[in-house]
Amino acid sequence: MNQEIFILAIDTSCDDTSVAILRNDCVMANIVSSQVDIHKEWGGVVPHLAKRGHQQYLDQCIEMALHRSRLNWDKIHAIAVTYGPGLAPALEVGLQKAKELAKEHHLPLVPVNHMEGHLLSCLLKNSSGNYYIRIQDHPLPWLGLTISGGHTELIWIEAIGTYKILGRTLDDAAGEAFDKVARMLGLGYPGGAVIEAMAKKGNPKAYDLPRPMHNSPNYDFSFSGLKTACLYSTDSLKQQLQDKFALVVPDYCASLQEAIADTLLIKLKRAAKNQQPKAVLVGGGVSANLRIRAKFRTAFRKLKIPVYFPYRCFCMDNGAMIALAGYHQYQRGKITYNYDTIDRVPYLTLEQGLFT
Ligand code: KG4
Ligand code: ZN
Repeated sequence: MNQEIFILAIDTSCDDTSVAILRNDCVMANIVSSQVDIHKEWGGVVPHLAKRGHQQYLDQCIEMALHRSRLNWDKIHAIAVTYGPGLAPALEVGLQKAKELAKEHHLPLVPVNHMEGHLLSCLLKNSSGNYYIRIQDHPLPWLGLTISGGHTELIWIEAIGTYKILGRTLDDAAGEAFDKVARMLGLGYPGGAVIEAMAKKGNPKAYDLPRPMHNSPNYDFSFSGLKTACLYSTDSLKQQLQDKFALVVPDYCASLQEAIADTLLIKLKRAAKNQQPKAVLVGGGVSANLRIRAKFRTAFRKLKIPVYFPYRCFCMDNGAMIALAGYHQYQRGKITYNYDTIDRVPYLTLEQGLFT
């Protein structure tokens, strides 16, 4: 396709306010205003504070994205916006703003599923024009794994926009396991990046933590058993070691990271062996983890199936991935001018929820 399409996208699904502008699949601006400092005091995301943060910073993020991409409104073809899944009060802010802007500038609205954004994020071309994956290099079907703070899903990708969920977590998400154990270890919130940093100095074989559901023949995951095992073992270590507990934290982090990586990889490999995808796409905040990436790469080299991860700046919540999913939807004509028919859907799923 030769025509250049410019999409402005807004994501306010959780605690980051993000606005991006893409020219086709190439990122021209990706502004993220993080609320981590507000929520870490509470040990997790507080919905009404997230809403207030989005209300405070969204306009500035939009202005910055236009400024950075050197575009004005008459160049924009459509406004993409996350309408689910996510926190209702937070989603509301982005959706409301997107509707106002679409009305004001007579633009179509493209309602996007946040998890489709994560799923496709490794297809984003960065601002210097490089690709991780070129769609044309790998014929479909693909296998996707989304690993974030709220989701852990194995997805069969027939085509962009046509998805089947093969398996999902039955309880906690992979990112939640990192966050909850980080809290037990006194490492603060969010936990994934801190655990990864600590794990670099630790021995992944030091503690024998469970790989839940590894024997079950399906593609589902469970992380609550791992969390409970960690609760018991950290309590007994704290009692045993008292003020020397801090000395074993790096070993504990390395063992936890290894257990989460193995648990994910067992099911991902099983699905890949059975379904034979042409490529594997991984996305979501946890996919920033370099140990997880290394383990996946080694395993898939042996299976001779290419595995792709997003640039690390596109792993956590960002507007660029929403703009990319929006760009593909726009090309398929999945847009609307009936703005008021679109409502937020906090529990939107990839199969049920694609806007039609
Ligand atoms: O995708 P995301 O930004 O937000 C959701 O849609 O949930 O993911 C956030 C999650 C958090 O649970 C965070 O601890 C985890 O991603 N995370 C990581 C790393 N960086 C962020 N987990 C493991 N290793 C990391 N380096
Ligand atoms: Zn997310």
